[in-house]
Amino acid sequence: MGKLILAGGGGFLGKLLVAHFGPLGHELVILKRTLSAPSGVRQGPARVVQWDAKNLGAWAREIDGAAAVIGLSGRSVDCRYSEHNRLLILGSRVDSTRVLGEAIARSSNPPPVWLNSSTATIYRHALDRPMDETTGEIGGTPEVNDVFSVEVARAWEKTLEEAYTPATRKVALRTAMVFGAAEGGVFQVLRRLVRMGLGGKMASGQQFVSWIHEDDFCRSIEWLLNHSDLSGPVNVTSPNPVPNAEMMKVFRKVAGVPIGLPASRWMLELGAFFLRTETELILKSRRVVPGRLLASGFQFRYPLMKEALEQLFAQPPLLAL
Ligand SMILES: NC(=O)c1ccc[n+]([C@@H]2O[C@H](COP(=O)([O-])OP(=O)(O)OC[C@H]3O[C@@H](n4cnc5c(N)ncnc54)[C@H](OP(=O)(O)O)[C@@H]3O)[C@@H](O)[C@H]2O)c1
Repeated sequence: MGKLILAGGGGFLGKLLVAHFGPLGHELVILKRTLSAPSGVRQGPARVVQWDAKNLGAWAREIDGAAAVIGLSGRSVDCRYSEHNRLLILGSRVDSTRVLGEAIARSSNPPPVWLNSSTATIYRHALDRPMDETTGEIGGTPEVNDVFSVEVARAWEKTLEEAYTPATRKVALRTAMVFGAAEGGVFQVLRRLVRMGLGGKMASGQQFVSWIHEDDFCRSIEWLLNHSDLSGPVNVTSPNPVPNAEMMKVFRKVAGVPIGLPASRWMLELGAFFLRTETELILKSRRVVPGRLLASGFQFRYPLMKEALEQLFAQPPLLAL
C-alpha cells in the first residue's frame, strides 16, 4: 500500500481505478487540469491536485515517494479527426507522458513503477490472426482510417520509452475497449442502441472487437503494479475478442431484445458524421490478445463476453466522483 498518482484520473478509467484501489487502503492522488475545489483537497476517496498536463509545477512534488504513477490523460478520440482535434489527441498524450517522465526523473525518491496508457489500436487491422505482444504487427490501414491513431499510439509509447527513469519500471498499457457500467463508456452506448432495436451487426460484422470487463481491467492494473518482472508493452484485453456480429448477438441475447437492425458501412459513415465521431472506432478489426498477462499467470474473471455482459447488465452504474 502506498500513494498512487492517477494522472488524468478524473475520467472513465480513473474512476474505475479509484473505486478499485480506494477500499484497498491506498492513498490516491488525481492530477486534473480544472478543479472545482482548491488544489490538494480531498474529494471522495482521492485528493485532487491541479496540473496542466504539460509543464512541471507544484504538482510534481506529489510524485516524490509515490508507490506508483498511472498515466491516463488524453483528449477523447470520440470526435471527428479534424486538424484541431488531431493536435489535441496527439499533444495531450505525448505532452502528459513527457512531463510525467520529467517529474519522475527529477524526484529524489522516484516511484518504482509507472504504468502509462497506450492502446490496443496500435496493432494492425487484423481479421486473420490474433495479435499478441510478441507476434503482433503494428501499423495502420487506410481503408479503415486508422493510420492517424496508430501514429498517435507509436508516438505515445516512444515518449514513454525515451523517458529517462532508471529507477522506475515502465509499462505501456495497450488497453482494449473497457466495458464498464458507468456512463461515459462504450458499454452504455451499445446497450442503448440494442434497446432501441438498432443492435444488429455493423458493416460486415466480421471485424473483431477486443474488449475487457471493468473488473478485469482494474485487477490487471493491480497485477502489473505488483509484478516487478513485467515491463514494456502489455496487452490489457480479454483473451477472447469476438467478431462484431457475434458481439451484437450476445448483447441482444443478454438484453432480451430479439431483433437488431444492422448498419451498413454507408449508414455508419453518415451516422458518424452527424454524431461527430469516426467510423474507425467500429470498422477496424482489433484482434488483440493478452499474451503477457496470461503467460505471467493472470486469471481473468470475465474471459467470455456473455458472462461479462450479464454482470454489467445486472449492475447499477457507478456514482460520479
Ligand atoms: N476507456 C477505454 O476503453 C480506453 C481503452 C484504451 C485506451 N484508453 C486510453 O486510456 C486513457 C484514459 O481513458 P478514459 O476512458 O479514462 O478517458 P477519459 O474519460 O476521456 O479521461 C481522460 C482524461 O484525460 C484528460 N484530458 C482530456 N483532454 C485533455 C487534453 N486536451 N490535455 C490533457 N489532458 C486531457 C482529462 O482529464 P482532466 O480534464 O481532468 O484534466 C480526462 O479525465 C486515455 O488516454 C484513453 O485514450 C481508454
